[in-house]
Amino acid sequence: MDEALPPPGEALHHLAASLGTPRTTKLLSDRRGSRAWKVTGPDGAVALKANNPDADTVRDKAAEMAQEDDHLRRLTDAGALTPGYRIGAGAWEGGRWLAVRWVDGAPVWRAFALARGPEGDRPSVRPRILGIARTWAERLARMHATGWAHADVQPTNTLITNDGPAELIDYALACHPDHTPRVPYRGAITHTTAPEIAHALLTTGDDIHITATPAADAWGLGASLFWCWTGHRPVAYEDDTPREDKLRAIAKGVTIPLSGVRPWAFPEFEGLIAACLHPDPASRPSAEALASC
Ligand SMILES: Nc1ncnc2c1ncn2[C@@H]1O[C@H](COP(=O)(O)OP(=O)(O)O)[C@@H](O)[C@H]1O
Ligand SMILES: [Mg+2]
Repeated sequence: MDEALPPPGEALHHLAASLGTPRTTKLLSDRRGSRAWKVTGPDGAVALKANNPDADTVRDKAAEMAQEDDHLRRLTDAGALTPGYRIGAGAWEGGRWLAVRWVDGAPVWRAFALARGPEGDRPSVRPRILGIARTWAERLARMHATGWAHADVQPTNTLITNDGPAELIDYALACHPDHTPRVPYRGAITHTTAPEIAHALLTTGDDIHITATPAADAWGLGASLFWCWTGHRPVAYEDDTPREDKLRAIAKGVTIPLSGVRPWAFPEFEGLIAACLHPDPASRPSAEALASC
């Protein structure tokens, strides 16, 4: 157990029944107002998240965590999520916690480590990165078929399992056109924000909910693949540029030419990324089409 930052006792108490005893706890992340742990017991493992009540963040992470629980239930009912992914959720003295089934995999950035260098230009790497793109699209297509968009498609919210397939995590910001969430959607990470979402964010007030769409997820997928394969984000701006100016640059719909930054030539993969990054949402391929290309 990490004594310095233990998970909420209320959550561990709840998990005792499903994980068994003894349990070990490992802190995975502590950022932007929320923390995540891996909790392992003889009967299984979960990812446990809780808001950090002391964090100085403008986002209300406790409300987002309650919202993610609501999304997990709705997505499961709609058939977009495997029953059993949601393990449990509840209140603790500092806010909210949420536990989901452990997905054993590496973040996409790490899965692309070999592909990112010149030595990645080898026959075994090509099907592997195409497989990541296709299975990532397949997971998105399953959500899109029910009308939901993930709305936070980015390299840290997808894990690549050892045998290859991509798995989506982090459903906190998911959007459905018929559902008004507790916390208005104001975009997620800047670098994978689609141009039309960037435009909507720039032209509406901070409390106005924007509904992210499947086409915006497709742009996020292309941006994530671009970023992880080349090491460059798809739109040119400096790291210290204010978010609003980054969004202005993205809203123009112009991306860096992939041919100038790719580590090696792979026309099929480049075509897939370029199609996802089309500035016109209606011209992007659906996740379903990407999954079978
Ligand atoms: N189901 C899961 N399986 C394995 N690791 C997970 C899972 N869910 C979350 N994590 C880990 O916890 C981190 C934070 O979880 P996430 O749901 O992305 O919340 P947030 O981005 O709000 O911190 C992830 O980047 C990942 O490392
Ligand atoms: Mg996340």
